[in-house]
Amino acid sequence: GTTLGASAAEKGRYFGAAIAAGRLSDSTYVSILNREFNSVTAENEMKWDATEPSQGNFTFSNGDRIANHAISRGMKIRGHALLWHQQQPSWAQNMSGSALRNAAINHVTRVASYYRGKIHSWDVVNEAFADGTSGARRDSNLQRTGNDWIEAAFRAARAADPGAKLCYNDYNTDGINAKSTAIYNMVRDFKSRGVPIDCVGLQSHLTNGPPSDYRANIQRFADLGVDVQITELDISGSSQASGYASVVNACLAVARCTGITVWGIRDSDSWRTGQNPLLFDASGNKKAAYTSTLNAL
Ligand code: XIL
Repeated sequence: GTTLGASAAEKGRYFGAAIAAGRLSDSTYVSILNREFNSVTAENEMKWDATEPSQGNFTFSNGDRIANHAISRGMKIRGHALLWHQQQPSWAQNMSGSALRNAAINHVTRVASYYRGKIHSWDVVNEAFADGTSGARRDSNLQRTGNDWIEAAFRAARAADPGAKLCYNDYNTDGINAKSTAIYNMVRDFKSRGVPIDCVGLQSHLTNGPPSDYRANIQRFADLGVDVQITELDISGSSQASGYASVVNACLAVARCTGITVWGIRDSDSWRTGQNPLLFDASGNKKAAYTSTLNAL
């Protein structure tokens, strides 16, 4: 293929980008989006603070701008993210206990129901595990409502949108380490008890490239019977171009690695300010990293 999306499709995968509703009026941005990508993720517009700014009042206007663009162009939509300790509305940040649990589950139900039938995969829970060697859950207001908050969220999401693949998404989980192993153990437990989970998202915010055991890590999740998606890929550093190729090669080597999403289009769109971790420069020109990615697909 001559574009990222078409080449990935030839391999039975999607190639997506995180996009911002506020950039859909930028013609350079939109022309790259429409030419190269066949999946989108809302960079911020489907998060809790954006979709439920006051309790029980749901606003989907910016999420819908992204969803409508994708639908009109035949692109898949990754839903991101139903529950997360960051980008919560202030009213939720100030809640605890059963009131917060009920509000969180209601949020999952309402947002997943609103977008039912439109979302290919939902990040139901984002970043719930701690960094470092503990393998523990991250302390958060959601975690303090009880250790079963993650499975409650997945059950609510399944009931609300039975057709969406339900993912657990996190960072620093690219190699085999204490954090990714804790997630592996959670997925294995969910599978054994019938808690609905379909996929694991590896954010893959990387420097230079993936760890040497990236493919093995993807494979061990696949062997549990879940898909793996590379959900927020960006790579800083001097080995960026070969790093992108390594990510693509690892994903293509595992049948259940079903797609790759880069976290932005141009370097100037990236949340990693000054690190230039994406595939297009600020003018929209293809970088060496673009060419190595396309050649690996
Ligand atoms: C980032 C967005 O890119 C920024 O625009 C926003 O200010 C903060 O969030 N992990 C995630 C994403 O799951 O939602 C984050 O996105 C990047 C880290």
